[in-house]
Amino acid sequence: MNDRTKAIITSWTDTIRNGMITIDKGGLGVTVLVDPETEIFKGIITDGDIRRALLKGHGFEEPIIRIIKEGYITATTETTHQELLDLFNQTIRIIPILDKKNRVVDIAAFDKKRFLPVAEPSIGEKEWQYVSECILSGWVSSTGKFVTQFEKLFADFCQAKHAITTSSGTTALHLALLAADIGPGDEVLVPTLTFIATANAVTYTGAKPVFVDSEPGTWNIDPAKIEASITSRTKAIIPVHLYGHPADMGTIKKICKKRNLILIEDAAEAHGAQYDGAPVGGLGDLGIFSFFGNKIMTTGEGGMVVTNNDEYAAKIRVLRDHGMDKNKRYWHPVLGYNYRLTNVQAALGVAQVEKIEQILAKKRANAKLYSEKLLNVAGVTLPGEMFYAKNVYWLYSILINESEFGLTRDMLMKKLQERGIETRQLFYPVHSQPIYATGESFPVAENISRCGLSLPSSVKLTEKSICEIAETIKNLAE
Ligand SMILES: Cc1ncc(COP(=O)(O)O)c(C=O)c1O
Repeated sequence: MNDRTKAIITSWTDTIRNGMITIDKGGLGVTVLVDPETEIFKGIITDGDIRRALLKGHGFEEPIIRIIKEGYITATTETTHQELLDLFNQTIRIIPILDKKNRVVDIAAFDKKRFLPVAEPSIGEKEWQYVSECILSGWVSSTGKFVTQFEKLFADFCQAKHAITTSSGTTALHLALLAADIGPGDEVLVPTLTFIATANAVTYTGAKPVFVDSEPGTWNIDPAKIEASITSRTKAIIPVHLYGHPADMGTIKKICKKRNLILIEDAAEAHGAQYDGAPVGGLGDLGIFSFFGNKIMTTGEGGMVVTNNDEYAAKIRVLRDHGMDKNKRYWHPVLGYNYRLTNVQAALGVAQVEKIEQILAKKRANAKLYSEKLLNVAGVTLPGEMFYAKNVYWLYSILINESEFGLTRDMLMKKLQERGIETRQLFYPVHSQPIYATGESFPVAENISRCGLSLPSSVKLTEKSICEIAETIKNLAE
């Protein structure tokens, strides 16, 4: 169950009073009753239902289930978007989505106001055309012309010798680490401010992720803090080009050279970003990308490893395919994985790479407009672009200084949500996550994480919407 749904849940054994409190806090005018043990759906109650029940003489402390009325509408995880739209009417504005066991997994909310999402894929005619062509050809699994074409186009895009498709950015990271022989006993430096997959991939190999604090200006791994974290066990560094801004690769490369460390770029969020005019991904020994649905370009789920090293590339191709000998079918000299991308996904990928320059231009134009409109709003720190960088602004993200702005980051997010503007908090630093909690403190990353939020960053955003979002933020500050 997601947070938005949790916010309107009441236990079916609870009182009318507590149901009213949930309705009040949830802000959607309804509460969904569930069995707290099983999350099984029991009914839905609106603020109007409660008002009518109280007028009829029901008391605040009575069980809320007593006033439940039949006739509510639910949908399932199989219900299509269009079917959902058809279910809404003058009175039905919230529809619980149930799984096969009748458990509440989500809610659909009808919002007649606009809704501006943080991210959405840009899928057009070419994507339809290539995917249909792929399906009609019958080559729907991981062999086919689109996989080859996608790898070739993407290698060119990164100005790298090899690009190898994988099933996700996470599996790309795992394979990159395995290709570099990283395993038990090794340490790998990662920024603590990143999506957890960067650290998890290190853990999958048996090595230990060692966390490094962030630079205040770029939010990326702070090169000045890297050397202090290197030990005799350190084997690699994974800088992450967070939210589309390249890490300081020049300085990091020098450290890697001096200390004989392998450099793996996590470019999951930074397709097309540049360091000193060169595209990220091919700047180190290995680089990885994610094509998850919210990324700059997408294949639904998917990833890519990029490298200029022939040996790494060959090893990754074997590991990706069950460790099978290239020349001997069903013969597996090493432990491998099934981390392949399908030809159908690659068909999407080809269409996306073909228009990547348009996507990047729109991302940068959106960011420029946001920055112009939000410049000089007290308490708002805008994303930067260092002298060496081309930032691709995967998600246009800002920091809120509560005392100058007048609202906390969370209050601002809530108020924007109420106005149909989706935002997203930044990642929690990995060292604070339950599975990695080390008790260490990384104050810069912690502060960025606490104060940061991403604004709608879709390439479908109009200039008018960006101006409205910026205006709303300014008005909320005043
Ligand atoms: C920095 C970073 N690394 C790795 C990943 C993992 O990519 P995926 O979700 O495709 O496995 C992500 C994506 O979400 C990411 O943001």
